[in-house]
Amino acid sequence: VKLFETIQEMGHQQVLFHHDPEAGLKAIIAIHSQDLGPAMGATRLFPYQSEGHALHDVLRLSRGMTYKAACANLPVGGGKGVIIADPSHKNDSMLKAYGRFVESLKGQFITGQDVNLSPPDLKKIRSETDYVVGVEEIAGGPAPLTAAGVLLGIKAAVEFKLQRQSLEGLKVAVQGLGNVGSSVARLLAERGADLFISDIKTDVAEELADRYGATVVSPAEIHTLPVDVFSPCAMGGFLNSRTISQIQAPIVAGAANNQLESEQQHGQLLTARDILYCPDYVINAGGLINVYHDMIGYCDQKVMTGLNSIYDTLLEIFDKAKSLEITTHEAAKQLAEERIRQSKTQADRQTSKPLAYSA
Ligand code: NAI
Repeated sequence: VKLFETIQEMGHQQVLFHHDPEAGLKAIIAIHSQDLGPAMGATRLFPYQSEGHALHDVLRLSRGMTYKAACANLPVGGGKGVIIADPSHKNDSMLKAYGRFVESLKGQFITGQDVNLSPPDLKKIRSETDYVVGVEEIAGGPAPLTAAGVLLGIKAAVEFKLQRQSLEGLKVAVQGLGNVGSSVARLLAERGADLFISDIKTDVAEELADRYGATVVSPAEIHTLPVDVFSPCAMGGFLNSRTISQIQAPIVAGAANNQLESEQQHGQLLTARDILYCPDYVINAGGLINVYHDMIGYCDQKVMTGLNSIYDTLLEIFDKAKSLEITTHEAAKQLAEERIRQSKTQADRQTSKPLAYSA
C-alpha cells in the first residue's frame, strides 16, 4: 500500500495505528476531516483477511462519514475506527485498551457501535473514555431511524424517476433483513408496497414474509427481479459489474454502506443502464442523525427535521446529476464538498471555534 499517497489522494488528516499486544488489540483510527467539527464514526470489529484490507476499509468508511455528515447538515467531521480481531476473541481488556486509544485523541474522534460491537461492548470502551455515543441506545438505537431515512429516500427516488407520489402497490425488493432491512420492510408494508424479501437466514425471511404478506426470494436472485426499487440492506460492495448488469429495477435505494464496489466505475455503469442510484451515505444518514442528537441532547423535532432533509438532499442530488450529466455518487460528493467549503468560509468569517464535545 502506498500509504502517504493514498491518504493524500483521499484527503485524510490523520491515520493512527495502535498495537497493545498484552490486550490483544490491533486497531486503526482514521480521521478524514474535522473541518465541520470533531470526527464522528462508529467502530467496527472484524477479522480482516489482512491489515491492508483493514486499512482500505477504515480509509473509505471514514471519508464516507465526512460526506455523510456534510450531506446531512451536521456540524461534525468524518472518522472511523477498526479493530482487527475475530469476534470470538473479543474481551474486556481488548475493548478497554481500545477505549484508551480513543481517549488519547482527546475528543478529536467520537465513536459508536458498528459491525460486531454491541451496546454492552460500548460500555466497556466508555469505561476508559468519554468520547463514545450510543451506549444507552436512545430512541431504540440508530437502526429504526436509518430505516426511516431509507423510506424517505425511496419516496424521493420514486417521485423523481417514476413520477409517483404514493408507495401503494410499489414493487420493492429488500436484500438483507437485519436491524435496518426488517424495519424498511415494515415501513413499506405499512404503506401498501408489494414486497419481495431475502436474507441468507431463511427463517428470518420466512417469518417476516408471514408478517407482512411478502414474497421470499433467494439471495442469489433478489437483485434480478423486475421491480420498481431494489433496496440493498445487507453488506457493502454488492453493486459490481456482474450484479449491475442483472438489475432490472430502475431505482437502487438501500441502507448498506459502501454499496459500489468501485465508486467511479460502478457509479457510471448504473447511470449508463439508466438506474437511479441513491448514494449510500446520503440515504443511510438516519443513524448518524440519531447518534448526533443523542450526543448533544435528544430533541424529537430536530431529529425529524434532520431526517426529512434526507428527502430534500436526495432530490437536490438527482437534479444536479441530471443537469451536469454526472453520476449521483459524484453529485453527492460535490454537494458535500460545497457544504464543507461554505461552512469553513462562514466559520472563518465569524472566527468561531468548531463544536467541542465534552461528555
Ligand atoms: P445487520 O447485520 O443487522 O443485518 C444484515 C442482514 O443482511 C443480516 O440479516 C444478514 O443475514 C443479511 N445478509 C447478509 N448477506 C446477505 C446476502 N447476500 N443476501 C441477503 N441477506 C444477507 O445489519 P444492519 O444494522 O441491518 O445494517 C445493514 C446495512 O446497513 C449494513 O451495510 C450497514 O453497514 C448499513 N448501515 C446500518 C446502519 C444502522 O443504523 N444499523 C446505519 C447506516 C448504514
